[in-house]
Amino acid sequence: MAVAEPARQSTTQETGVKRKPERDGFSTHIGALLATLGSAVGLGNIWKFPAFAGKNGGAAFVLVYLACVFVVGIPLMVAELSIGRAARANAVGTFKRLSPKRPWFLIGAGGAVAAFIIMAFYTDVAGWVFAYVFRALTGALPTTVEGTSAAFDQLVSSSWEPLIWQWIVLAVTTTIVMAGVKKGIEGAIRRLMPALLVLLLISVARAVTLPGAAEGVAFLLKPDLSRLSWSVVLLAMGLAFFKLSLGMGTMITYGSYMPEKSNLFLTAVRVAAADTTISLLAGLAIFPAVFHFGFEPTAGPALLFNTIPAVLGSLPFGRLFTASFFVLTAAAATGAMLSLLEVPIAYLHEERNLPRRTAALITALGIAVLGVPATLSTGPLAGLKIFGLTFFDLFDFLSQNILMPIGGIAIAVYVGWFLRRQKLLGEGPAARYVSAALKFVVPVAIGIILLNGLGLFA
Ligand code: PHE
Repeated sequence: MAVAEPARQSTTQETGVKRKPERDGFSTHIGALLATLGSAVGLGNIWKFPAFAGKNGGAAFVLVYLACVFVVGIPLMVAELSIGRAARANAVGTFKRLSPKRPWFLIGAGGAVAAFIIMAFYTDVAGWVFAYVFRALTGALPTTVEGTSAAFDQLVSSSWEPLIWQWIVLAVTTTIVMAGVKKGIEGAIRRLMPALLVLLLISVARAVTLPGAAEGVAFLLKPDLSRLSWSVVLLAMGLAFFKLSLGMGTMITYGSYMPEKSNLFLTAVRVAAADTTISLLAGLAIFPAVFHFGFEPTAGPALLFNTIPAVLGSLPFGRLFTASFFVLTAAAATGAMLSLLEVPIAYLHEERNLPRRTAALITALGIAVLGVPATLSTGPLAGLKIFGLTFFDLFDFLSQNILMPIGGIAIAVYVGWFLRRQKLLGEGPAARYVSAALKFVVPVAIGIILLNGLGLFA
């Protein structure tokens, strides 16, 4: 198996900062790639992507989303991984080391805040997934169209059940993350990713062979451009950030655990391509079924939870398939949550000198508190709105469509304009491309989409 490569005691030329020899990290190139993919793949692919595509016109949305991933996402991912690796530090420490006495570290601090906000609603949805595993195994999950919708509504509107599941999710993820980067995070992900892919393929095979499946496939793949507007473009870009874990410090933190010699451009391209493939597969598992069973593609957050039990439940051994599907969704969500938790934990551990366990417990506690209003906003707090949004929707919108894109602009400007390219990104066409994209394309594209999408130019 993999041999650990101890971080070398050395001094970076730019910063003159000593690296700690005992810092934990990913053990091999493939381990690092899988962990990064494990951060990217999550509820974003299986729950959010189909829900967003369904609400915003299907293929037209997918097209803009793809453009955002490749034009904005890949250069930013390279930038984040590179600065993390150069500094070998957490999201705040990275900026402090590369640019001491400058306020750039605020980008990392903003990222840690975003991690809490994302986790507040992410753990809620992950809790629904855990609940579905339990229900599928105990035979408590209906497989008819009316039945699945009613069961979902009952779960999310209950005042205590989703909270308990959310806390179970937090307890599980915090325990794994406490075990460290190599043993905890990398070890868990290596086992889970391949199984997820297999189950997704089974679901796709089932869905596309349902009568009437072609309509669903066309919905996902044949664009109707009249559906596009600036606010849809903002949603697509926000989803690209969310999907690839960008603009909030996760990729900086994971970059800091990368082996010295891995090619970060290739890593980013592979992660983006694999992640996008998984989203499209999730769409192909869901939309044919949506049309076959007569669900509304615009159902939003309920879409996954209503369709999959109906799709898989109708197969022989349906209960087992449904349970496995949600087990693997839970696993994918866990990989993403580990990387979200890692941002504040690495910060508290390295910059505030707290033991890793204490850092993990403080982080989990903070998320549990912030999670309560998000989780109750599909139940008892449904009527409580800020700017017309429930807490759940507010946390979702704020993180994905505002904090992460702003973080992205800041990182692009910082790496593109304030660091020396050769030292950070190296030579060659890929490095020149990334550097030019970071200087011009990425900040301008995000800026235009953000301002127009929020209606500031309208
Ligand atoms: N990329 C993860 C997903 O799609 C979510 C995530 C966002 C993870 C930000 C880390 C950081 O589910």
